[in-house]
Amino acid sequence: MSVGVRSFAKINLGLAIGPIRPDGYHSLRTIYQTISLHDLVKVEVQRGAGIEIRCRDARVPTDESNTCWRVAERVMKACKARGKVVIAIEKRLPVQGGLGAASSNAVAAMLALERELRASLEPEQRWRIASEVGSDLPLFLVGGLVLGLGRGEEVYALEDLPPLDLVAVFTAEAGVSTPRAFADWDARAEAAAAKRAASGLTGSGPSTTMDMFSSRVFAWLTAGLPRAAAGSTAGVPTAERGDRAETPLLDLVRAGIENDFEPVVFPKHPGLREVKRELERAGARFASLSGSGSTVYGLFDSAGQAQAAAQKLAEGGARAYAATTLTRRQYWRDLFSS
Ligand code: C5P
Repeated sequence: MSVGVRSFAKINLGLAIGPIRPDGYHSLRTIYQTISLHDLVKVEVQRGAGIEIRCRDARVPTDESNTCWRVAERVMKACKARGKVVIAIEKRLPVQGGLGAASSNAVAAMLALERELRASLEPEQRWRIASEVGSDLPLFLVGGLVLGLGRGEEVYALEDLPPLDLVAVFTAEAGVSTPRAFADWDARAEAAAAKRAASGLTGSGPSTTMDMFSSRVFAWLTAGLPRAAAGSTAGVPTAERGDRAETPLLDLVRAGIENDFEPVVFPKHPGLREVKRELERAGARFASLSGSGSTVYGLFDSAGQAQAAAQKLAEGGARAYAATTLTRRQYWRDLFSS
């Protein structure tokens, strides 16, 4: 018997990149939101030894460089289990698409393998394995709305918000390499610092967008609280809002959080900027690159509007899908359901 799991995607609601850390990773701040689009991952433990990855998509590696492989190896060791692990991945999400698909596949493989082995790792073991294998894995152990700090692996569950309709567009452009996008960001930050130095200006470099992100998210998180409970908010912008309860997610993105990858990815992939504009023209309340791309998404007021926008974009040749955000409860409920 094999265990099948839905491996959901995430989008980033804002992503602020900071300086390079001594370990070579970048500090970052982001809000992850899981969404209903997903791959399917099936895990079976057979007689024998080793790990086998099966996937029809030739762009998915089937050797030890696959995140599922690296997770399975660690889970088998942690559970002191024996056998041959066969992982079948049915790809629906784009490869290098900024939706965290490979990371989500790996977490799905971990959860399915535990079930298949009838074993249960301690939460700390799960988290350690996930963060060792990649910065984007731990968020999928939380699901719903998640604050990401550190190199993205330090995750905090945020209070879930009412589901929102969205359209995700997978363009025909090649996938965007995340390390490449970070390197381009560094080159841009260095050029900006050199320009500042040449003009005699001192002051902050890459931490600026991190600080802005923090102050805006803090303002949004504390918007519903009485001032005393929120602590001193002097100097912190307050989120402009009408009825906070109606559109809290839109309040957040409209507070001005942005994805720092856009200014380095869009010039190299102008088609992505055009997709963002098309989503805005089709009525998206907010549109953005997800992660380092290449997926661009738009948030809409209703399912009808999202479906109409997806159809319009699809008529123009794009792979555009209407979907919804997933709360933590929905995420865990639908993960194992067949
Ligand atoms: O953590 P993960 O292995 O998914 O990261 C892939 C690559 O992306 C890293 O090797 C690094 O080059 C880059 N990265 C980074 N800063 C982060 C996350 C990833 O520079 N916070």
